[in-house]
Amino acid sequence: MRIEYGHFTEQVRGVSNILVTGGAGFIGANFVLDWIAVESSPIVNLDKLTYAGNLGNLSNLKHDPRHVFVKGDICDRARVARLLAEHRPSAIVHFAAESHVDRSIHAPAEFVQTNVTGTFSLLEEARAYWSSLAEPEKSRFRFLHVSTDEVYGSLGPDDPAFTENTPYAPNSPYAASKAASDHLVRAYHHTYGLPTLTTNCSNNYGPFQFPEKLIPLMIVNAVQGRPLPVYGDGLNVRDWLYVGDHCAAVRLVLHKGRPGETYNVGGNSEKTNLEVVKTICTILDELRPLRSLPITHNPSPIARYSSLVTFVRDRPGHDRRYAMDAGKMAAEFGWKPGERFETGVRKTVQWYLDHMDWVQNVTSGAYRNWIDLNYGSRKIGNGE
Ligand code: NAD
Ligand code: DAU
Repeated sequence: MRIEYGHFTEQVRGVSNILVTGGAGFIGANFVLDWIAVESSPIVNLDKLTYAGNLGNLSNLKHDPRHVFVKGDICDRARVARLLAEHRPSAIVHFAAESHVDRSIHAPAEFVQTNVTGTFSLLEEARAYWSSLAEPEKSRFRFLHVSTDEVYGSLGPDDPAFTENTPYAPNSPYAASKAASDHLVRAYHHTYGLPTLTTNCSNNYGPFQFPEKLIPLMIVNAVQGRPLPVYGDGLNVRDWLYVGDHCAAVRLVLHKGRPGETYNVGGNSEKTNLEVVKTICTILDELRPLRSLPITHNPSPIARYSSLVTFVRDRPGHDRRYAMDAGKMAAEFGWKPGERFETGVRKTVQWYLDHMDWVQNVTSGAYRNWIDLNYGSRKIGNGE
């Protein structure tokens, strides 16, 4: 890995680069690691290193010249223009975003800035760069925008899963900012012919997910003997996909997707939040029995992790159910998730148990302020 904080001095030559944004975050880092392992062509990774970005996620690439890390903001158009001119990527894979729904409720401005203005800036610079390319590079260029199922809104218990034709109905500031970015991407294809691709994916889980999201938060709280805060009645449903399967889907769409198209990616694995939390508790009961914890982490002492489950006040505007119909991915590319939830979540729990140093690292400092802000005001509740 080469780290560029200022000007670029050399390029990785030979094979064409791709430019990844947000490649130090959860999905982006998994994508970068997979890409280097599977595709082996070089990556330029532009990431602002917000609280959610962590170079430690990429430490396996420390000595790999195929990965060039650039600390920078996608809103910095001059920086993006320079990057494109110097590295001349054959594709942009755009992960960078503010991604946590609860944070978007507390402080939406940053979501509009990065997700809407940032995507707009990237599209503008991508358009200028792409227009300057000669054939065959011009026809080969792709702008792949990574988005979410949340743009479609919320499903009732018996509604069919979201398809690519489901009308947009975003409900949180996060979802609205992602919907806006999706619309901009669509417009840049329709108006300027920019060869865009959009993937809309369901909830991911796996290694390197920041412990503000449900699965890592529950694992980390549990092993620290803290309450497991379940919003509302715990019966909201999410469609869980192992992150490696998402990365494989993005690679496929990049190689085979038709410009201008959108592709829904999902785990075909709907679970209530309570089911997810209880599954994690059962796995932890087996892998790290509570009686084995130091007394400071289990002062009660309680025997089972599930006794830490605490119902707290609901998320405002909490979407009830998401489910993705990934039939287009299956029909066009033969893609389906490789990992079952039961095996994927077990691997994930084990990963966190094996990487408590990573957890310590990312949860120092500002993390505690966030936990106090988000959970301090959530009185213990009864689902209201
Ligand atoms: P994340 O929050 O873990 O990581 C986001 C990364 O983007 C971080 O490394 C951060 O430093 C970087 N970043 C933020 N603002 C930036 C800016 N202005 N300029 C450059 N870099 C910036 O997010 P994630 O969960 O890995 O999600 C990645 C993408 O996938 C997002 O676009 C998200 O909307 C989408 N997505 C996520 C999920 C999920 O379940 N996590 C599901 C579907 C889609
Ligand atoms: O659906 C895809 C989306 O999934 C992505 O676009 C987002 O970036 C990603 O954050 C995720 O959004 P969710 O809001 O679904 O994920 P989160 O992990 O925050 O919450 C999952 C469910 O668990 C949700 O119903 C809220 C609930 N929850 C969450 C937390 C953090 C709790 O009950 N307690 C909690 O402490």
